[in-house]
Amino acid sequence: MRIYVADTKDEMAYRAAEIIEDRLIKYPDTTLGLATGGTMIELYRYLVQMYERGIISFKSVVTFNLDEYVGIEPSHPASFRRFMYEYLFKHVDILPQNVHIPDGMAHDMRAECKSYDCAIKEHGGIDLQILGIGLNGHIGFNEPGTPFGTTTHVVDLTETTRAANAGFFGSIEDVPKQAVTMGIKNIMQSRSIILMASGEAKADMVAKALTGPITPQVPASVLQLHPQLTVILDRQAASSMPKDYFDCSFVA
Ligand code: PGA
Repeated sequence: MRIYVADTKDEMAYRAAEIIEDRLIKYPDTTLGLATGGTMIELYRYLVQMYERGIISFKSVVTFNLDEYVGIEPSHPASFRRFMYEYLFKHVDILPQNVHIPDGMAHDMRAECKSYDCAIKEHGGIDLQILGIGLNGHIGFNEPGTPFGTTTHVVDLTETTRAANAGFFGSIEDVPKQAVTMGIKNIMQSRSIILMASGEAKADMVAKALTGPITPQVPASVLQLHPQLTVILDRQAASSMPKDYFDCSFVA
């Protein structure tokens, strides 16, 4: 695991953007795993800037998003499909057929989950997966207690997660109760992972996930087992890490 501690949230986003930039320059046909949420907004802003300056292109990039709410239209202002279009896709040259986001309105959710897993496999797996972390340690919408062997599946969202996302909907009552998410197995099969977190509210969970026991009760703790994990934190999110942790870890 490599950990970068940035001074600010903005610098955290820029560092992640730089890693993606390097990758897309070297391998323009990368398959990216993408995330939504407040942590990702500046990251996508930097990627759009890099695209506008002609440094990177998304023409040959394939994307798979982690998750989507169940039961809301793709055009809903809080859908993750809409989020991706607003913050990234509509500004860059990605081909619509290369964008994959689970369909939360699918008639047969089991079939949808299976076909999402198959699509990831057919594209040769995910080269670089971007992740945020929930206040409860979730990755994607894999809530505490999710077995590590899960592939794409439908989940019941916890109250913590629904409350954390209420801002996007106006009120907690309007936040869907279910979502469809890539499983932990899909995430762990990615060839490399960037985990991003900012702010003091995430600090205890970040420390628990990166230095505590590896347990399904803290879904992000499984990432300790990934051979190509880069963690990018701002100072606040890193503030609960054990004092001696960085002595022998790579920090920039
Ligand atoms: P956030 O969400 O970026 O909005 O904090 C992160 C997550 O829940 O994975």
